[in-house]
Amino acid sequence: MHLKLIMALLCFGYCSPAMAREAKEYDKDVQYDESRLPAYDLPPLLVTSSGHPVRTPEDWMRVRRPEILSLFANLIYGKVPEPATPIKVSYELAQEDRGFMGGKATRKDIKIHLENAKGRLSMHFLVFVPNEAQKPVPAFFKHSFNNTQSNDFDASTSRPGFLKNGWPLGQLLDRGYGFCAVYQQDLVGHNEVEFQNSIHKLFYPEGQSFPKAHEWGVLSACAWGASRAMDYLETDSDIDHTRIAIMGHSKMGKATLWTAAQDERFALAISAQSGCAGAALWRRKSGETLKKMVTRFPYWLCRNAWKFVEQEDDLPIDQHMLLACIAPRPVYVHSATEDTWADGRGEYLSAYHASEVYRLLGKKGLTSMELPEVGEPIIESQVGYHIREGGHSIEPWDWNRFIDFADFHLQAK
Ligand code: GCU
Repeated sequence: MHLKLIMALLCFGYCSPAMAREAKEYDKDVQYDESRLPAYDLPPLLVTSSGHPVRTPEDWMRVRRPEILSLFANLIYGKVPEPATPIKVSYELAQEDRGFMGGKATRKDIKIHLENAKGRLSMHFLVFVPNEAQKPVPAFFKHSFNNTQSNDFDASTSRPGFLKNGWPLGQLLDRGYGFCAVYQQDLVGHNEVEFQNSIHKLFYPEGQSFPKAHEWGVLSACAWGASRAMDYLETDSDIDHTRIAIMGHSKMGKATLWTAAQDERFALAISAQSGCAGAALWRRKSGETLKKMVTRFPYWLCRNAWKFVEQEDDLPIDQHMLLACIAPRPVYVHSATEDTWADGRGEYLSAYHASEVYRLLGKKGLTSMELPEVGEPIIESQVGYHIREGGHSIEPWDWNRFIDFADFHLQAK
């Protein structure tokens, strides 16, 4: 069976013994041994590319942050070009259920239509609002693997308070939050390689039919879509769009960080096991590496990123700088002991190094290079973190910590 297909199936939880053997093969030269990782120097956060020290919050916000965002856009995730012709956006309330979950919530199914002379695409955006709470409510916003049109979103009868797909909607509603979700594949395929029917087609000028080397890959397209959903939220008076916690798991954690780094309207970001191209540092080369990623998912990033395969030290950026672009807004990073593919230690170190910028902006960050104890979350710092026992998933315990973090930083606002 083709390796890419196997890995895609594994990603979605399907695994036969033969596939597991082949996946192990793929995993063969992955380094997990801390003592064998390469030594590295991270590019400095607080020195501009022309060599000037960044001394003030203004230097950071006006000079260094835009410089870093431009490097991430051009070298890692890909830049969104100007559309071929202006895109007309319209919102349709396709369905509204005021009695969702036994009357606890209102569910709105919103269609965000995007259209220009080159074509038309629609995103299906789910919004749940607690009926009892005073409006507008703060909300969690999920970059989701689940198709937002499926009936996975029905309330589960076997686990009260949960949706069939495991989202703890009841708990979020009880704690005063709304919940929204965008589906990763509405605008671009999971492992898109053609870019003919994706959102990209609305952006190609005459004669172009594939993204250029510095133009947007899959993760950038997901991030762009989340910003269009935020445009909608700005028009919805049930939701307080100034208190949105964006979050996502794994690939969607990567998309979350890139979305929040660029779009300052998101008030808080949660990276759940985002790993390689998410929170983890490139230069550690532990668990999934750039080479592994672009082999299996060639266009999650832009093509320019390929040039740094096994040349990570030449990158003028590393992932701590992405987290720093979210500052001063709170960011939370979640890892798990057995999720070594995502390099929990690399995720923590990224958050630790990004903290330098949080401190420059007058906020609290992480102060130790040592990971906290397993199961002991850091909540009362603008840079939060936890690592728990177990593998690659979001467990109810993780959700509780995310809500604690949002309570601490958003409810008090
Ligand atoms: C694969 C991929 C990871 C990604 C994960 C996921 O394992 O290599 O980078 O985070 O899928 O999205 O679940």
